[in-house]
Amino acid sequence: MAANPKFTPINDSDNEWWKKTTVYQIYPRSFFDSNHDGIGDIPGIIEKLHYLEDLGYETIWISPFTRSPQRDFGYDVSDYFSISPEYGDMALFEKLVREVHGRGMKLVFDLVLNHTSNEHPWFKESAGSRDNPKADWYIWKDGKGKNGTKPPNNWRAMAGNKAWTYYPERKQFNYTAFLPFQPDLNYHNPDVKQAMFDVVRFWLSKGVDGFRLDIISAIYEDAALRGNPPSFRIAPSDKSLSIFFQHLKNNFLQEKSFEFAAELRSVVDEFDTPKRVLIGESHGDESLISRFCHHDGKDGLDAIFLFKAVSTPFKAESYRQMLMKFEKHFPEPLMPTLVFANHDRTRVISRLGGSIEKAKLLALFQFTCRGIPFTYFGDEIGIPRVRIPLKQGKDAVAMQHDWIPQALVDRSTEILNRDECRTPMLWNSKPNAGFCHHSAEPWLPVAKNFNEINVEKQMADPRSLFNFYKKVIRLRNQTPALHGGSLEIAHDLCDRRILAYYRISGGEKYMVALNISRYRVENPVSNPISSEVLLSTHPQSEPHQLLPFEGRVMRLRNA
Ligand code: GLC
Repeated sequence: MAANPKFTPINDSDNEWWKKTTVYQIYPRSFFDSNHDGIGDIPGIIEKLHYLEDLGYETIWISPFTRSPQRDFGYDVSDYFSISPEYGDMALFEKLVREVHGRGMKLVFDLVLNHTSNEHPWFKESAGSRDNPKADWYIWKDGKGKNGTKPPNNWRAMAGNKAWTYYPERKQFNYTAFLPFQPDLNYHNPDVKQAMFDVVRFWLSKGVDGFRLDIISAIYEDAALRGNPPSFRIAPSDKSLSIFFQHLKNNFLQEKSFEFAAELRSVVDEFDTPKRVLIGESHGDESLISRFCHHDGKDGLDAIFLFKAVSTPFKAESYRQMLMKFEKHFPEPLMPTLVFANHDRTRVISRLGGSIEKAKLLALFQFTCRGIPFTYFGDEIGIPRVRIPLKQGKDAVAMQHDWIPQALVDRSTEILNRDECRTPMLWNSKPNAGFCHHSAEPWLPVAKNFNEINVEKQMADPRSLFNFYKKVIRLRNQTPALHGGSLEIAHDLCDRRILAYYRISGGEKYMVALNISRYRVENPVSNPISSEVLLSTHPQSEPHQLLPFEGRVMRLRNA
């Protein structure tokens, strides 16, 4: 298989490599199983690196693979310095790093700083008594009420559950920002901070190119553990940090969290060039979360996920507003991100009603905007959401909510059982879609229609979603204005149906025009003398019109 030629290959001395890159998220459990146990693994990733290189991706981000009881599939770490046996061992991880770098690619490690598993030795020690050396490594507080049996305050956790769990050994409550088996570390304690900075150094010395920082929004809590004020919102949203009628004012996005980002930056910068990247996971308004990147005159994280893109309606005007917000809060040299899915959210194709033409249009948008595109494994072939009832969920969030009537859940476009977006990669039409040997049982069911939707089939079809991804990523990699230029929204050409923007670098100017409607519309730039079409989502593209849901990239001559 021919490798994708990169006109602007990542250059090791290029400190800004992460600004130009494209990121592919691998959920290791579901990517490729090399040892027939029904669970993906590190050798499986190594075996498939050529696939990602051929697609044109330059960076992979791998969800956690360090030792864990796997109650939250790796986001509950019990040992930060070893690999979970089902995925391989340290020698295999080192081989993976060499193989990734050998291809001129980068590897981003998913780091869970906020909490450990309750099976981590630190926590076991901490929970054992009130006066052990780790007693203050987690967040403990006496309960309220006559017998101290009521939680210390009203905080809710992000997964919707109560944030406090009672531990009889200490006769105290323990705080968790996510699920009760993921106790939050106490970053007010300098020893905790140093211990976790050593974790950071350990993985950097193993050669990782940076970190995706799991729920960094939750890293600090109000030191006095004050309660939260009320809010009108019940459901969580990508826009605000409110849930179940409270505003998460005192347990998320604290001033100290932004200061921490700058401290972490300085630890990471102890390591040589090329610069290692820091990408944070946080919900909340862009004006607030941009402070993770730059705060009080100091640089912190390089980028933060902007989850607004996940919930913004697939409409020209909504996307125009979204881009304006992103550009306002992340102007150059800051960098927005473009995220439409991950291992917690519904599959892109299912949100788009199964439409391949819409999926191509969204990919064109994602790979031609200013920002780092993050895509989730399998979205390049359109793996759908696989319906799995809450009661059968292996996902701890599903278990938490299995009292909710299934009929209600089924009506929602968003998922509550995250298993539904974590089902195995569909490689071919062999048994188990080629994810694992026919004798093995995949840890989650494979999508039923894998005979129609799989990598092998789409590789052979020039009109497939896979081949469109390959074209658009190649175009982005080869075109400095698309991976590094500035962005200007062409407001005069935008309307209810059309979203148009320019990408500009040096003397080069490109226009991207997206028809996000089911009608034909005039092509805003149809003169072949002044423009050249470089890519269209539609095979029957016409010069003067944009077909329904067609998107185009045009190079403007003499611009
Ligand atoms: C993040 C992860 C999610 C995990 C949670 C707790 O939101 O993306 O999968 O369950 O943090 O670590």
